[in-house]
Amino acid sequence: MKIPDIIIAIDGCSGTGKSSFARALAAETGFLHLDSGALYRAVTLFAQERKLISAADEVSPGLEAELRSLDLRFGPDNRTYIGERCVEREIRTMEVSSQVSPISALPYVRAFVDGILHSYGRDGRIIMDGRDIGTTVFPQAQVKIFMTASEQVRAQRRFKELEAKGESPVIGEVLENIRRRDRIDSTRAASPLAKAPDAFVLDNSDMTLQEEVAWARGLLQGMFSIR
Ligand code: DC
Repeated sequence: MKIPDIIIAIDGCSGTGKSSFARALAAETGFLHLDSGALYRAVTLFAQERKLISAADEVSPGLEAELRSLDLRFGPDNRTYIGERCVEREIRTMEVSSQVSPISALPYVRAFVDGILHSYGRDGRIIMDGRDIGTTVFPQAQVKIFMTASEQVRAQRRFKELEAKGESPVIGEVLENIRRRDRIDSTRAASPLAKAPDAFVLDNSDMTLQEEVAWARGLLQGMFSIR
């Protein structure tokens, strides 16, 4: 599909399938997909490894200064790197998931991650997914999609993902983690999860990935008069 050099912003709660949808849409359009949540996860891993966050989610004020030494980026393979180390697997564990919300609520963490995200958006042709892409990171994005799905469907998806990775998740805990993250992500003061007024809503509770992509294709064809 030939579409102009735009930015497509995809936002929504945990487990709505933003990354799968964004990846499929990237394959369809030839755009680069960037998962902004991966950077918040990598900062969380960094804080955990340096013992800058306690079991009770208290973050040491030292994290702000330590971030100056954090060389965080997407590699040419589109995976997440800290320096030369690929952290793509480690950032997807329950351990990281359970502390990423308090870390991503910190304004200096958001400023740090936003700086990295902005460096990728200059020439367009990207699809970025997250919580505040259409509202804060790229408010100028030409296409904004806000994804939703029922809590139960989202917990089931996360559960299967963790199982496929060899973890032994407990469905009640996964659901509780999703609820807790929704609560923190949408009530935090700095760039809370919110639908941009000009975003199109995609509720995929009862949709297959193919149906989601067909929906997006129709949307893009209509917006850019593509036949
Ligand atoms: O999409 P995800 O579950 O991998 O994101 C991990 C966490 O990062 C999520 O709980 C909230 C945070 N996040 C954010 O605050 N802003 C973004 N743009 C993306 C993610």
